[in-house]
Amino acid sequence: MILLNDNLPWSEKHRPKSLSELVGNPETIKALKAWIDSWMLGKPSKSAALLIGPPGTGKTASVGAISNDLDMELVEFNSSDKRNKDSIETLVWRAASQMTLDGRDRIILLDEVDGLSGTSDRGGVGAILKVIRDAVHPIVMTANDPNSPRLKDLLKVCQVFNFGLIESDDMTTVLRYILSENQENVSEDILEEIIENAEGDLRAAVSDLESQVRGGSSSQTITTSRDIRRGTEETLRHLFATNDSKMARRILSESELPHDSLILWLEENLHLHLLTPKELNDGFEGLSLADVSLGRIMRNQNWKLLAYVYDFFATGVAMSRTKTPFRRVVYSQPTWPLLVWQGNRKRDKQSKVRSSLASLTGVSKRRVQQTHLDTIQKIIEINPKVLKNFAAWLRVEKSALVRKRNR
Ligand SMILES: Nc1ncnc2c1ncn2[C@@H]1O[C@H](COP(=O)(O)OP(=O)(O)O)[C@@H](O)[C@H]1O
Ligand SMILES: [Mg+2]
Repeated sequence: MILLNDNLPWSEKHRPKSLSELVGNPETIKALKAWIDSWMLGKPSKSAALLIGPPGTGKTASVGAISNDLDMELVEFNSSDKRNKDSIETLVWRAASQMTLDGRDRIILLDEVDGLSGTSDRGGVGAILKVIRDAVHPIVMTANDPNSPRLKDLLKVCQVFNFGLIESDDMTTVLRYILSENQENVSEDILEEIIENAEGDLRAAVSDLESQVRGGSSSQTITTSRDIRRGTEETLRHLFATNDSKMARRILSESELPHDSLILWLEENLHLHLLTPKELNDGFEGLSLADVSLGRIMRNQNWKLLAYVYDFFATGVAMSRTKTPFRRVVYSQPTWPLLVWQGNRKRDKQSKVRSSLASLTGVSKRRVQQTHLDTIQKIIEINPKVLKNFAAWLRVEKSALVRKRNR
């Protein structure tokens, strides 16, 4: 992967290079370092480490920092590498069980072991266990979800290190540092808001700060749906990283991102991964086929078509990347339609419709259902063609206006 440093997302560009630059979880990190140190004396009985904690709490960063501080070679396998039994048996095993050429010590990092592969990939866990048995170097794994069934067998042979959420003060320190490094500034209010929204996820805070500075997005954009953003970026990254269409399909079916928003995000970001005209053309073709099928599903409730939607996304869009190498990129949010769908997430979909109607008609939000919405929905039922006009007028997603029992 060739990347100019300036094109790196801030969360990559500002990876802490030394333990002294790391914030949060000091005790855990100290213990982790001691465990790695203990390898110098020989393979410990628990010969692999499992770092468990929510995203953006410094798990990956601390392994990088420790390897730098101890001048060890870091061999990193992350979840966008094809994480199957074969590659673990060959690539990872080789890295773990052979000495380095220059005699330097090595750390093997298997990042996000609970990530892509789901529970079906038991073979993968078996392969990891074998790697751990044969390893002559410390193996460090990271995982987000302590309850993932994938971890069950790993937990027995691993020393566990728990990472907790990053405190606000610590996040402030890091964000201010990054701002000054980049000679940028944001207001105190925005900084506070970013931190509050990140809910202890430092990577999220850093990437929100970056979009704030680069995009100058309104603070309202930040407050919306931290979780959606996180899931979305992951979905896109994994989707474009894989070159296996079955895997792409699975990534999509496991993603919590609603299909209509997936279309918007893909539309906005496709060109970052598909750089040749042919790739772009194929990508957009797949996208529009997905869009058409999705429209049919919504109109006719023909959910059988959903399988094809996945295919169009997976094969049509993700598999269109045939030439351009996979790169990590900063995804941008779709422009206005995003604000619409964000406001329309299940729970507050109806409420959005009512407040929009209320402000347009002057009737209170509580009464507007009887005075206007019932009628509008009746009209739409009789003449579905006007749905999009009403949706545009009210600035809501079309599905928000379709009555529940019709779905
Ligand atoms: N001092 C710091 N301590 C920890 N993380 C930092 C620091 N400064 C910046 N960060 C950012 O936070 C991110 C931490 O995320 P990471 O270690 O990848 O989390 P995890 O692996 O737990 O999901 C880093 O990529 C980096 O951009
Ligand atoms: Mg990580």
